[in-house]
Amino acid sequence: MNARADVRAGVNETTAKATETTLLDPRFYTTDFDALDRIDVTPVRAEWDRLIAEMRSDPNRNHFRKTEAWDATDWESMDPQLRRELVDFMVSSLTAEFSGCVLYKEMKRRGSNPDICELFNYMARDEARHAGFINDALREAGIAVNLGFLTKAKKYTYFRPKFIYYATYLSEKIGYARYITIYRHLEKHPERIIHPIFKWFEQWCNDEFRHGEAFALLMRTDPRLTQSLSSRLWIRFFLVAVFSVMYVRDHARPAFHEALGIEIGAYDHEVFRKTGEIARQVFPVEIDIDNPRWQAGLERLRRAMLAMDRARRRGGIAGFLGRMAAGARSAAAFAGLYLIPVRRSVPPTNPRLVPSY
Ligand SMILES: [Fe+2]
Ligand SMILES: [Fe+2]
Repeated sequence: MNARADVRAGVNETTAKATETTLLDPRFYTTDFDALDRIDVTPVRAEWDRLIAEMRSDPNRNHFRKTEAWDATDWESMDPQLRRELVDFMVSSLTAEFSGCVLYKEMKRRGSNPDICELFNYMARDEARHAGFINDALREAGIAVNLGFLTKAKKYTYFRPKFIYYATYLSEKIGYARYITIYRHLEKHPERIIHPIFKWFEQWCNDEFRHGEAFALLMRTDPRLTQSLSSRLWIRFFLVAVFSVMYVRDHARPAFHEALGIEIGAYDHEVFRKTGEIARQVFPVEIDIDNPRWQAGLERLRRAMLAMDRARRRGGIAGFLGRMAAGARSAAAFAGLYLIPVRRSVPPTNPRLVPSY
């Protein structure tokens, strides 16, 4: 269903926006749950038990509550472009959080392996809190997303378990890196806190860090998942895809980043650096983000995606031809990024990491 049809169906605009699934929107996933359920965590048992004990202790159980630090947001007098981009940031974060919740809950519901079910139960619990907290903030602005509708109306993308590991591991770790980088920046520039939700990011991102640790351990149960030639090529693909989507999406929110006092290019580079450093715990390849072709390729991709968007809006034959041309340019830019030589690394014997940024 497209966004306009959703509005006609009686859901609000933010719900319609969250329901869209273009190349750049956060997706909902489904997978081969039986295969996931068959995972035997014996090879990583000691680390597994330690991580599960930490999640069981639920360090953030009291965190997602509004306190006096939650000051009122003046949505009314906010600059319209800033308001639009802040809402877009929140809706896209909410969709990503809720996407994790839906996937993890489904795994828990369908599984019978006690290790897997316990893990996915805790991760679903955390993501439900995260999504609920963002939605509360949207509710204050009168634009909460209808999550029940979203669950039913959003398109689900099937990924085989191995791709779920790569995509979810990366989105958890990049989520951590994004939240902590924004938080540390605002710690130094409290006058730039345009919405109280950012004050909750420090402990919040530790949940994402733990979720990423869980996927690192799942990948460690079978060396073929990260070491075979095809796995290395796919890992490289997912790294480029996740990083470049973030680049294009962030650059579409200039007013939002300006209000936070964040220079988008520098911020993205910093998030890539942190994520790359963390991912050495499990991935044997790393993107060379300092290669000049990386930045140039990201820009090429961003411009091609903008052209694609313009063509889509134009419609008709001209729009169709424009979309074809921009699509080919995007594919070429992506291939250029993919072909930048990667750095090889050897993951440590023990993958365990603690949040250190
Ligand atoms: Fe989350
Ligand atoms: Fe998470």
